[in-house]
Amino acid sequence: MSIIKTANEATIAEAAQIIQDGGLVALPTETVYGLGANALDGQAVARIFAAKKRPSFNPLIVHVADVASAQKIVKMDARALGLADEFWPGPLTLILPKLDTAGISDLVSAGLPTIAIRIPAHKVALALIKKSAVPIAAPSANSSGEPSATTPRHVAKSLGDNAPFILAAGACDVGLESTVLDLSGDVPIILRPGVFTAEDLEPYLGKVDYDLGHKDASKDQVKSPGQILKHYAPSIPVRLNAVDLEKGEALLAFGSTKFMGIRGGGSAKDLTDTACRNLSEESDLTEAASNLFTMLRDLDMPENKGIAVMSIPGQGLGIAINDRLSRAAQG
Ligand code: TXA
Ligand code: MG
Repeated sequence: MSIIKTANEATIAEAAQIIQDGGLVALPTETVYGLGANALDGQAVARIFAAKKRPSFNPLIVHVADVASAQKIVKMDARALGLADEFWPGPLTLILPKLDTAGISDLVSAGLPTIAIRIPAHKVALALIKKSAVPIAAPSANSSGEPSATTPRHVAKSLGDNAPFILAAGACDVGLESTVLDLSGDVPIILRPGVFTAEDLEPYLGKVDYDLGHKDASKDQVKSPGQILKHYAPSIPVRLNAVDLEKGEALLAFGSTKFMGIRGGGSAKDLTDTACRNLSEESDLTEAASNLFTMLRDLDMPENKGIAVMSIPGQGLGIAINDRLSRAAQG
């Protein structure tokens, strides 16, 4: 059983003590809930991998509260400092060369010479990092391969006993994980799309490339281990760009469902409440992003034989939403 405690000064202090003692704390961020541990403590970090059943080749993001702390861990060039100035705190993770003096457990970076780092824009996360007085390594707080958790209840459902202490602060604003930007080479590369797109970053960096992987980890060279194909997957099949429904399928809609029919007869309006969710009736991508993981979980019910997802425009936040959906569809 997980203990869910509403975040306040006392519970943040309690959580900070758990972090200092080498334990795990699930914490809210503006993107998704994270499962945090002291990034300087190898045993504590190992507990994260065990709790999530995460393959040890998949490195973690280090969360700090200010740029000065980041500079003790990674080498920040002028590009990185410029981005930090503009986008931190916020949902942008930078991959930067790890400093020899960083003291970060090798498990965090899965042996890579780089570290993923960000300052989260959430007052509870920042308060916890400051109170713990250590950098906090935190992947999304879900069992490996499942949709990320955007509410305390989803953390508890996904991780159970493996997330013994959940610091709760309601649903996450953004609902999708941070943009991961590789700044370790000459050309900046987005390895995971998020709120910030290449267009948002290019004014500060010049040309930004995408390398979204969609690779089969067993065969291909994967730049960011999190790019492995199957990820974010519900336990039932996910079908993309659906223009109609099969009998028994649930609908994850975007925009109007007026023309969604069911093959063999019927229409989307006949679906029961457990078989239909709309990411955004107004076709708003920000609203859709914040609903995505919750609605995938809602529809992941044994009475549904699969989830048909309507098409989502591939611009702005739609790039990130489609990235998560295409991985979910590999399940
Ligand atoms: O919004 C977020 O980023 C959330 C919150 C909790 O901060 N965290 C999150 O962590 O999504 P996680 O572990 O689920 O995803 C981290 C991603 C993975 O795709 C991982 O492979 C990649 O970052 N990553 C971490 N370190 C890396 C490195 N040194 N080089 C390349 N990719 C790295
Ligand atoms: Mg994750």
